[in-house]
Amino acid sequence: MLNIALPKGRLGEKVYAMFEKAGFECPSIKENNRKLIFENEECGVRYFWAKPSDVAIYVARGAADVGVAGKDILLEYNPDIYELLDLKTGNCRMAVAAPKGFRDDPSRTLKVATKFSNIASNYYASMGREIDIIHLNGSIELAPILGLSDVIVDIVETGTTLKENNLEVFETIVPISARLIANKASFKFKSEQIERIVASIAEQMKEG
Ligand code: PRP
Repeated sequence: MLNIALPKGRLGEKVYAMFEKAGFECPSIKENNRKLIFENEECGVRYFWAKPSDVAIYVARGAADVGVAGKDILLEYNPDIYELLDLKTGNCRMAVAAPKGFRDDPSRTLKVATKFSNIASNYYASMGREIDIIHLNGSIELAPILGLSDVIVDIVETGTTLKENNLEVFETIVPISARLIANKASFKFKSEQIERIVASIAEQMKEG
């Protein structure tokens, strides 16, 4: 049985279609209910819907053999997994954003609000910039508006959230997309199925 952790939501539905085409169909997953686990014994596959930021945990610890996680989560938590494929979907970027017209004063410690403390720390450390990290769990855009921070480090997809809160991108840190990941032991012991998935999804992406 191959265990696949899917990120709950639109991205998950899109990537399920990729696994389905690779020969791991599981029609019951399309039932509109609150169930989290779906199995198709015939194909030897079991899917489960996980919170997107938790997929890498299931995979790293072997509760899932493969899964789909955002590059943001992989950079932030550095889980012990194999990254097999860039799925070129779920595209966005990790960026520094600030109130319009913001100018950085290098003589002052920069206050940075973020959910991605490691990404932010590494980014500023690479520039030798001294910062004070304020770790928040969501609605990061509030922080500079309320004077809690000077800037934020966050995900920007359409840019709408920034725009509607009078913020703008100051610097782009790294582009982000969804990645196919595998548990290291599973990659060895279930290599045939995992390689079938990688080859099929790579082919599907080529076909567009
Ligand atoms: C994410 C991110 C931004 C927003 C960016 O938030 O943290 O707030 O999406 O998207 P946009 O550029 O298309 O507007 P999410 O919806 O995950 O909620 P959060 O505020 O709880 O982090």
